[in-house]
Amino acid sequence: MFNSFLFLSSKAYNPSMEKQKILVTQSILNNGIEILENAGLEVEIWQEKGPISYEKLLNMASDKVGIISMLSDRIDSKLLENAPHLKVVSNYAVGFNNIDVQAASKLKIAVGNTPGVLTDATADLAMALLLNLSRKIRPASENVKNGEWINWEPMGFLGKSLKGKTLGIYGLGRIGQALAKRCTHGFGMDLIHHTRSEKLMGTKVDFETLLKTSDVLSIHCPLTEETNGLFDYENLSKMKKDSILINTARGEVIVEKDLEKKVNEGHFFGVGLDVTAPEPMSANSSLLKNERVLVTPHIGSADYETRAAMSELVARNIISALNKAELPGFVNPDVWN
Ligand code: DGY
Repeated sequence: MFNSFLFLSSKAYNPSMEKQKILVTQSILNNGIEILENAGLEVEIWQEKGPISYEKLLNMASDKVGIISMLSDRIDSKLLENAPHLKVVSNYAVGFNNIDVQAASKLKIAVGNTPGVLTDATADLAMALLLNLSRKIRPASENVKNGEWINWEPMGFLGKSLKGKTLGIYGLGRIGQALAKRCTHGFGMDLIHHTRSEKLMGTKVDFETLLKTSDVLSIHCPLTEETNGLFDYENLSKMKKDSILINTARGEVIVEKDLEKKVNEGHFFGVGLDVTAPEPMSANSSLLKNERVLVTPHIGSADYETRAAMSELVARNIISALNKAELPGFVNPDVWN
């Protein structure tokens, strides 16, 4: 994927001096760590179970030139201002809503992310949630596990065919397009979408039409002021009663208590969530007790190949930034202007 192996330039790396330090806020696959160490950097990894606390992060960032952060880490202006040596934050995710990018740019700190490498994995997961719900795989499997499989049932576990149904995508970026290809080419669905830019695929519709017409609606937008809480009670009510809703983007885009209310009212054939707000979701949520709802713990990018590519990319981001070279995943490319 990357042709050139960027070592730190002699200006950035002087072996006679103390090594520059990088913090990794959770264990990741080792290939990225090796890249950093081979470039002469000292890598400190937060190894404890669970996310690093904000206070701990604040403390550990103080002597680092780079941070590889997780999407659960709050990288705010206070943290950035309290890290006098910090030159780069490389987020182990394509989404970067956990980082105050404006504050980073003001402090001339480069911000990196991992676009491209997790597109297919996330689209695969959205597809897996969709097929699981449309064919009632989980309740059917539980029926077998519970010893309730008595005979071949002509009326048992009747699902919903995807063929000829309308797929609505909210946010037709890389991941949205990858899901759209799977659903249209593989499953004969028709595509409509609501997205900011012009796209050649399917039919662009207004948001209202997307809500009212989609048999399956999959959310693939970033979390912004505009999308935060967009799928509230009113908008969820506009969706077809027997539609399937999938969210592999960010939990905050859906108002969870409103979704809970709609599901409890009998709305939706299925709801598949790989993301929730908060994360982790409360184990007491009534959504978890409903057999029409399937929740996974934010595993969109979780296959070995993808996580290895992400590990490499976050490391390349760090090395590029320390060399003041263009980051392969550059969130604030005007940072040094
Ligand atoms: C991302 O990269 O933003 C995903 O949510 C991680 O799986």
